[in-house]
Amino acid sequence: MAVDLLLGLQWGDEGKGKIVDVLTSKYNIIARFQGGPNAGHTLVFNGKKHVLHTIPSGIFHEDTVNVVGNGVVIDPVIFKKELDKLAEQGVDYKKALLISRKAHIILPTHRLLDAASEASKGKAKIGSTLKGIGPTYMDKTGRNGIRVGDIELADWKDKYRSLADKHEDMIKFYNVDIQYNLKELETEFFEAIATLKTLTFIDSEEYLHQSMKSGQTILAEGAQGSLLDIDFGTYPFVTSSNTTAAGACTGLGIAPTQIGEVFGIFKAYTTRVGSGPFPTELFDADGETMAKVGHEFGATTGRPRRCGWLDLVALRYACQINGVTQLIMMKGDVLSGFKTLKVCTAYNYKGEEITHLPFNIEEENVTPIYTEFKGWNEDLTEMTEASQMPKALNDYIDFLEKELEIPITIVSVGPDRKQTIVRQ
Ligand code: GDP
Ligand code: IMO
Ligand code: MG
Repeated sequence: MAVDLLLGLQWGDEGKGKIVDVLTSKYNIIARFQGGPNAGHTLVFNGKKHVLHTIPSGIFHEDTVNVVGNGVVIDPVIFKKELDKLAEQGVDYKKALLISRKAHIILPTHRLLDAASEASKGKAKIGSTLKGIGPTYMDKTGRNGIRVGDIELADWKDKYRSLADKHEDMIKFYNVDIQYNLKELETEFFEAIATLKTLTFIDSEEYLHQSMKSGQTILAEGAQGSLLDIDFGTYPFVTSSNTTAAGACTGLGIAPTQIGEVFGIFKAYTTRVGSGPFPTELFDADGETMAKVGHEFGATTGRPRRCGWLDLVALRYACQINGVTQLIMMKGDVLSGFKTLKVCTAYNYKGEEITHLPFNIEEENVTPIYTEFKGWNEDLTEMTEASQMPKALNDYIDFLEKELEIPITIVSVGPDRKQTIVRQ
C-alpha cells in the first residue's frame, strides 16, 4: 500500500486540518511529518471548533491511529495542553496516538532563543510564531538535539542541563532584553515530560513500514505550506523544515516510491502571516473583505493574516516541487460577492514577463500580471453538490485546472466538515 500525502501549497493555513479530518475515514493511519506547534490546524464539526498544533488531525476518529513522525518537533508543554483539551472532549488519545522516538523535543530555552533571535533582527524579523521551531531544528541539524527516545534513558537530564546552559549563554550573546524565569519554565516542562512518557513511543519508520506491508492505508499530514519550505520557500522568511513532499520521506521514513496520491491544498485566494514577500498582497477594500469574511486570523498566534489574489505562478511552482496529483480548493465561499476576481498568471520581473518563480520575489523586482474573472453572488456555504455551483465559480475552477494541469477534486465552501463538495 502506498502512502498518500496532503500538504499546503501556499504560505500555510490553507485548511489542511479540515481536509485531513474529512479524508480520515478513508485511512487507517494519519501521520504528521514535520513542523511542530507553529502549526494550527482547525477542525469544525457538530458545531464545535478544535485547533490542533502537534497532534495529527485524524485524532477525532475513533478507529484511526495517529502518528507523530520523526520529522516533527514536540513542545511537551503545548503537547500536554492539547492532550488535556482532547481529554475534555472525551477522546481516548492514549490508544490513538503514537510518537516517534526520533522526534526532537523543544526545550523552554529553544523558545527563549527564538525570541532573542527575532528581537535581535529588529525590522528584518521573520515573524516567527516564537514556538522555538528554528532553534530546535538548528540543534537537530547541529547534532545537539534531545529526542523523544532520549527521555527514556537514565542520564537524559544531564544532557538537558548542558544543552539548556549552553542556550542561556547563547541568549546572553544576543544582547537583547529577554525576561524569563527558567526555574518556573522547567517545572512546567518536566511535568509535561512526565505526561509525554505516559504515551506510546515507537520506532515509527518500522511501524509505518509494517503497516503498509499488512495493507493499512496511511495519509501523511503536512504542516505549514510549500512557500514556507526551508529550501524552496521565500527564504529567509520561511520555517525551518521541509514542508514539501520530500519532507514526508525524511519525516516519516517512507521511500519516494511508496508515495501514492499527493493532495495539494490551496485557498481560492492567498494569505500569509508573518514577514516576507507576497506579490499579490492587497492593501485595499478587497483585501479587507477577504480578511473579514474569511476570518483571517492565525490559529496559533491570533495575528491578522495578510490577504491577496490567487498567485498561479507560485501555485504552479508548488505543484511542481510536490508532484501534486489532486488539488483541493478551499474557502471558495469567501469570494462570493466580489464583482471581479483576479488571478495572477505571470510576473513582470525586472521588465520581462515570466511564468516561473524567480530567486527573488521582493516587491521591487516583481509586479503581478492578472487575468480577470467575473465573480459570483451566490452563497456557496449550503451547497453540497458540484451541480449546484454557479457558472462563474465553475469557470474559475476550469481555468485553474487548465493552467495547472491537475484536477481540482474537492471544493471547500465553509469551515465545517460537511461543507465539502467532491467533484469528479
Ligand atoms: P491549516 O493550518 O491549513 O489547517 O488551516 P487553519 O486551520 O490555520 O486555517 C484555515 C481556517 O479557515 C480555519 O479557521 C478553518 O476553520 C477555516 N476554513 C477551512 N476551510 C474553509 C472554507 O472552505 N471556508 C471558510 N469560510 N473557512 C474555512
Ligand atoms: P499551519 O500548519 C502559517 C510562519 C510564521 C513565520 C514563519 C516562521 O497552521 O499552516 P516559525 O514559527 O516556523 O519559525 O515561523 O512561518 N508559519 C506559519 N504560517 N501557518 C503555519 O502553520 C505556520 N507555521 C509557521 O508566521 O512567518
Ligand atoms: Mg494553520
